[in-house]
Amino acid sequence: MKITIIGTGYVGLVTGACLAEFGHHITCMDKDTSKISALQDGQIPIYEPGLDELVRKNSRDGRLSFTTNLAESVANASAIFIAVGTPSSRRGDGYADLTYIYAAAKELAQHLKGYTVIIDKSTVPVGTAKQVSRLIQETNPDADFDMVSNPEFLREGAAISDFQRPDRIVIGAESVKAQAVMKEIYDPLYLISTPFVFTGLESAELIKYAANAFLAIKISFINEMANLCEQVGADVVDLAKGVGLDGRIGSKFLHPGPGFGGSCFPKDTIALLRTAQEHGVPARSVEAAVEINASQKAGMVKKIRDALGGDVVGKTIGVLGLTFKPETDDLRDSPALSILPPLLEKGAKIQVHDPQGMKEAEQLFPEFTYTDNSYEAATDADALVLMTEWNQYRALDLEKIKSLMKQPLFIDLRNVYSPDKMKNKGFVYVGVGRK
Ligand code: UDX
Repeated sequence: MKITIIGTGYVGLVTGACLAEFGHHITCMDKDTSKISALQDGQIPIYEPGLDELVRKNSRDGRLSFTTNLAESVANASAIFIAVGTPSSRRGDGYADLTYIYAAAKELAQHLKGYTVIIDKSTVPVGTAKQVSRLIQETNPDADFDMVSNPEFLREGAAISDFQRPDRIVIGAESVKAQAVMKEIYDPLYLISTPFVFTGLESAELIKYAANAFLAIKISFINEMANLCEQVGADVVDLAKGVGLDGRIGSKFLHPGPGFGGSCFPKDTIALLRTAQEHGVPARSVEAAVEINASQKAGMVKKIRDALGGDVVGKTIGVLGLTFKPETDDLRDSPALSILPPLLEKGAKIQVHDPQGMKEAEQLFPEFTYTDNSYEAATDADALVLMTEWNQYRALDLEKIKSLMKQPLFIDLRNVYSPDKMKNKGFVYVGVGRK
């Protein structure tokens, strides 16, 4: 099938490359000329494992191309995915900014030829698909199209496998014809028995927010339990195991840490709260998850300060990891961005390492010292903070780390290491919710 993807951000690019891999003919369209010419040269603007290979392979095989020409790419397509950004509104009120979606809808409406399915892939508040549909109709009353909402559930760092082996595909569509087109697009997933959930437009839109909100609640819950564990002498890793093995609860997303970050949970929980507010419906569990997340980050600042004796003036803090999770270069809403600046302000020297996030961090925090590896980050440090659980931080040469540090204080905000083993190796070890 000939498919056009509008927007070559994270979601658009992964969707385009993976659908090309399914055998479709994909045109990825973006207005950003420098981005498109870089992509045409095989340069990928984001770090996502496996994406560069997939883009190169499918471009070479002629199933994936990049363009800035909206008119042509729309006219030729049987299906069009809208995958433009929906950042938090600049007003700072938490609403999703739909400017880009509406602009794309109006523009593509003018170039539609023949029956086309228009699929909203961006995360958008309930009612947006209907609004986009109205805009297209108003702009081009002759357009023959159906609107579909098809939310993505891609985790950064695992987006390719999430796309190719998803837990489910959610399709909000209001005509059998559109459902049939969607089935054809995702045909390879039918063959591996992926569950398909067919719904109306509003339900599909809300499913995305509800799924992210639920996961955020789960994380905030375990973070609160971790804090309680610390006070009563329990161990949160044991607790999570004991609780998570209950099939009704499940063990995933029960890892305590410095709070959730990234491009989705922080933004989507707030956007869901706004929607609930607008409709006069309390969403107290989501509200609590957001508040707990903010205090969890603040709690990490206190944890580090306390471990250093309450005063960080003149102390050197080595930091392993800056991105909001491993296997990404994304710093958006990363806990590191909330935890490190207050320590810097209180007089600490911050020396950091991250495998992918340092380039962007250097722009944001020129005051940090950027190092080439974990050992340099640990050198002369009064404390070493493991902020993001990159694989390379899981197997550190601990003897070497200890010999390089000013004092052996290891603050493990991801509970990567065993407290007993660390203590046996001579470290003062501080985890999250651990004895
Ligand atoms: C998330 C959703 O998982 C995905 O389905 C959605 O479509 C986009 O948002 P992503 O933001 O890439 O994906 O990362 P995810 O793995 O969900 O982690 C989000 C944040 O939660 C990270 O900061 C991570 O460190 C944190 N987290 C996750 C925890 O603190 N504990 C956990 O148990 C799980």
